[in-house]
Amino acid sequence: MTALEVSAGTKKPAISIRGLTKVFVLGHEKVRALNGIDLDIYPNEIVCLLGTSGSGKSTLLNMMAGLEKPTKGSVSIYGERIEKMNERKLAIFRQKYMGFVFQSYNLLPNLTAIDNVALPLAFAGVKRSVRDKKAKKMLKMVGLGKRMRHRPTQMSGGQQQRVGIARAFVGTPKIVFADEPTGNLDTRTTIEIMEMMVNMSRENHQTLIIVTHDIEIAAYADTVYHIIDGKISSVEDNRGKQAIPRAAGEDLSDSEIEAQRLKAVEEAAPDIRAGRTEEQRHSEDEPEIEAIESADEEKNEEQISEILENSELGESSEADEIHTEEDEQ
Ligand SMILES: Nc1ncnc2c1ncn2[C@@H]1O[C@H](COP(=O)(O)OP(=O)(O)O)[C@@H](O)[C@H]1O
Ligand SMILES: [Mg+2]
Repeated sequence: MTALEVSAGTKKPAISIRGLTKVFVLGHEKVRALNGIDLDIYPNEIVCLLGTSGSGKSTLLNMMAGLEKPTKGSVSIYGERIEKMNERKLAIFRQKYMGFVFQSYNLLPNLTAIDNVALPLAFAGVKRSVRDKKAKKMLKMVGLGKRMRHRPTQMSGGQQQRVGIARAFVGTPKIVFADEPTGNLDTRTTIEIMEMMVNMSRENHQTLIIVTHDIEIAAYADTVYHIIDGKISSVEDNRGKQAIPRAAGEDLSDSEIEAQRLKAVEEAAPDIRAGRTEEQRHSEDEPEIEAIESADEEKNEEQISEILENSELGESSEADEIHTEEDEQ
């Protein structure tokens, strides 16, 4: 049992995995990507899955997020067995509980920063005025107040990943998954991105799960799981020696965490400190560039509508329920 688990006391895990096995079959060959994983991740915990390329980190993350089905074993998120859910239920569950940050950012190239960030809210059926307001707030928080109407190709890698972070956190999901989030970034930008994600997760009492091969990244986690050949080879309690130390008294009960999280949702956490960003250092005094004209705005709206129409999630009643408390503020 790790020190975190001890301090977690009777706390219920956010994610609980037992006997997780994944075998990929390619023709006559079988690849055992995961070979019996057991782990518990607690609310408000920052976890790193550390291992070399091919060790099974992404496969594990994908199972946790319900993006792939295990060959054997169970994945429970807040007590719900996600490996048993059908695709539709899973999609709604992911939308409600999870945010994602990707190595290659995965922004939609034709959408502005605002529309990219607002996309998860659009999927959740949040109305345009509310989602724009939240997206703008998030972009300011990640230091992109002057890049709101830029498209991905008009931004640096670090800026694009900040849009990615804003998109992952905009709906204040309970769990944020990040697969090699700084894999394409330089050292300085990596530090900024990591600080931003860690500070946001702590501020909103979210669980953050980072996959990386980079030991420097592991320094930001509370707990580090070393993955070798689809197994957890060791678990390291990293608290007390972290890159950003966790303040005393930050361990709250489940209900306190949830109360604080909801409060943060209401306030949309305007005071998250992420330090001076790459953006601020380089362009503090730059005037806002209106990168698109209003005709383009309509095109964006059309594009979002199209995405929503092609998605099962579009205007479903379940999806509507998920965000009603937020909509009413
Ligand atoms: N869709 C797939 N089909 C077949 N093999 C796969 C698939 N995804 C991953 N693998 C294999 O599973 C192993 C673990 O992969 P992965 O989880 O991507 O590792 P990591 O993220 O640690 O680099 C590797 O041997 C990889 O080739
Ligand atoms: Mg990977």
